[in-house]
Amino acid sequence: PSSFWNTIASSFNWTKKYDSVCVEDMVHANNRWFDGGQLNISENCIDRHLVENADKIAIHWEPNEPNEEHKNITFQNLHDEVCKVANALIALGVQKGDAVCIYMPMVPELLYAMHACARIGAVHSVVFAGFSGQSLAMRIEDCNAKVLLTAATIHRGSKAIDVVPLIKEAMCLATNLRTIVGMDMDADTTGACSIFNWNALVSGQAKICKPTVMLAEDPLFILYTSGSTGKPKGVVHTCAGYMVYAAYSFAQVFQTKNDDVFWCTADAGWITGHSYFCYGPLLNGTTTIMFEGVPNYPEANRFWQIIEKYKVSHFYTAPTAIRALMACGNEFPESFAMESLAVIGSVGEPINEEAFDWYANFVGKNKCDVVDTWWQTETGGIMLSALKNVGAAPACHAGRPLPGIVPVLLSTDGKIIHEPNTEGLLCIKNSWPSIIRTTHGDHQRCIDTYFKPFHGYYFTGDAAKMDENGFFRIIGRVDDVINVSGHRIGTAEVENAINMHLDIVESAVVGVPHEVKGQCIYAFVVLLDGHTLDQKNIQNEINKIIEERIGKLAKPDFVQIVSALPKTRSGKIMRRILRKIGENDNSNFGDTSTLLDPTVVEVIWEQRLIK
Ligand code: WT7
Repeated sequence: PSSFWNTIASSFNWTKKYDSVCVEDMVHANNRWFDGGQLNISENCIDRHLVENADKIAIHWEPNEPNEEHKNITFQNLHDEVCKVANALIALGVQKGDAVCIYMPMVPELLYAMHACARIGAVHSVVFAGFSGQSLAMRIEDCNAKVLLTAATIHRGSKAIDVVPLIKEAMCLATNLRTIVGMDMDADTTGACSIFNWNALVSGQAKICKPTVMLAEDPLFILYTSGSTGKPKGVVHTCAGYMVYAAYSFAQVFQTKNDDVFWCTADAGWITGHSYFCYGPLLNGTTTIMFEGVPNYPEANRFWQIIEKYKVSHFYTAPTAIRALMACGNEFPESFAMESLAVIGSVGEPINEEAFDWYANFVGKNKCDVVDTWWQTETGGIMLSALKNVGAAPACHAGRPLPGIVPVLLSTDGKIIHEPNTEGLLCIKNSWPSIIRTTHGDHQRCIDTYFKPFHGYYFTGDAAKMDENGFFRIIGRVDDVINVSGHRIGTAEVENAINMHLDIVESAVVGVPHEVKGQCIYAFVVLLDGHTLDQKNIQNEINKIIEERIGKLAKPDFVQIVSALPKTRSGKIMRRILRKIGENDNSNFGDTSTLLDPTVVEVIWEQRLIK
């Protein structure tokens, strides 16, 4: 492994070469890669290409409104704009190691902001701009960011969302915040937190900013993701290992060549946007698309139009988007030849066979490699996938491990499962360059979540099967994490929010299958004695709370009022049974003998909302 990764790492610019390739510790979560090395990822993404490709287009930016002018950003332009933002951050006093929070729409400034942080060694924490003010505040506080980069308005489809009230809410809640730089925001430097207008601050800055030399294991970014318990965890990735694996996995899976145009539709606020929009393609010098809008605006053909407009050769999206577009009708992709496409990819959740076939037929026109890529925020890059030209996987299979990755399936008692087609818990045996380094501020939580469940292994939280040919099929999460439209939502977070409602004593939420979203949230709530809110009212009020505390993406589709939750004698909620009820399946509730009051289940079943 050392010489393998050494060969891959040697294609980058190192200020100082590393002393060792990997120091593995899968017990204490203390994995170090390329230790002793010095580098800067922004330099490797941008400056390295200026020698020969300064005028090559790095980013085609497509605005939300199709008639608005798009932007072609060359590597030189990218360099200049990134340096301007970096100098602005320096002027604000941001130093190496400081956390900077970014809450922005998919506009070029968001990309500049991420690279500007990387360039000066500030640790970026991008928060998806669909999260609420309270969620944003929690993330600002957790990583102690003093600076927030943001924008007043988010254009998505026909909507122009004014996020200033939300930003001000976050500013009041997160008392550690000192500075906000906002696009189209009015400056106000009178309060404890100063607000600067983006253009006023950035436009006059110099176009040169020397990249800060970083140690291999210095943190590069924090990205919050939901777990099964408590508040979201800040997953920490470090400079060298993340860089090497983002670049390597991109190159292996997609195999782009000189003039290829790559498009990952994920928002930069998710790990997919980090690895395969912001970093992976640029590390490989590949042109990419940045799209501000949504797939169905102004019409459900927007993706296909964009593919033709920029001659996209590689397209990477999520099953939820595929299913939503499939529901709009075949005529949309049918009227576009999309001849440029060579590889189409899927990520974020298991892709069902119908969606897979539709994607391959109507988008890929049966001539593209289809790659279903499995990975996680914590893995930093794609772990299981077919590669272009290599090892096409059967439908619904995420393929084989990338070279260098050693997955295993374990039984609950930790034994390796060798028989094919047998379900097991997916773990990774060896370290890899972009393995999660820690959960910010709480290393023990990182150990407990990922490395304790199976001694010496990284535990993914997913169940999977492997067929005779070594292809993995992901079954889904085995913890209390719900995957709604490819977004991870922790049941505990949603329940905590619902329980804030003054009429609600307790609640339990589960994920149930949904045609477009993959899974949706089904909430069971118990009202205070004597409180008689009806189903509709309670749903509206819960929606409001969820929107305020987490964000629209975590709103339940179903809210059922129940007299009690099924609990064991020790007080544990039997989610397994609630999940079955949500699936409209009473064939096998399993053992209910441990329940405190088994009749509760019958009543909930009778009153279920999905029949
Ligand atoms: C969870 C990770 C990194 C991708 C974006 C989501 C599920 C991800 C697949 C796939 C089946 C998948 C898993 C995983 N997942 N990709 N191709 N097939 N399931 O990142 O938010 O960290 O979520 O998404 O359950 O554990 P994430």
